[in-house]
Amino acid sequence: MLALGCDHGGYPLMKTVKEYLDRNHIAYKDFGTDSEESVDYPVYAKKVARAILSGECDKGILVCGTGIGITIAANRFPGIRAANCTDEYMARFARLHNDANILGLGARVLGPGAAEGIVETFLNTEFSGVDRHQRRIHMIEEDVDR
Ligand code: RB5
Repeated sequence: MLALGCDHGGYPLMKTVKEYLDRNHIAYKDFGTDSEESVDYPVYAKKVARAILSGECDKGILVCGTGIGITIAANRFPGIRAANCTDEYMARFARLHNDANILGLGARVLGPGAAEGIVETFLNTEFSGVDRHQRRIHMIEEDVDR
């Protein structure tokens, strides 16, 4: 199950993301927001991060104006690896190397076609599982130097 969250700046692109998911029969839980009325992006980042950490959802997509604020907020939670991606290459390697569990998108940065390609790549790429990448992720989570 995917967890979705956005602020007012991300809302227009989130509509496109949801259309893509609906078309492809991909299940999601939508944590809002649901309009372009001004809200605070950390609220939605926290809802999505908590849904993933509780096991309710396995991955998430967060959208704000740039994708920056909402991924910064999500990354404050240990166990969350949110990657703000602006192209498919970044989305592929966010999964392959970083095992990112949240995709960040910027609604004021990306067109709908580019965003759909990024979402598709993120959802269809598995973590490589290679030792050195696993070790580096462990180093992030555990505050160890090796
Ligand atoms: C809201 O205007 C905007 O600051 C927000 O969507 C996001 O881009 C923050 O990083």
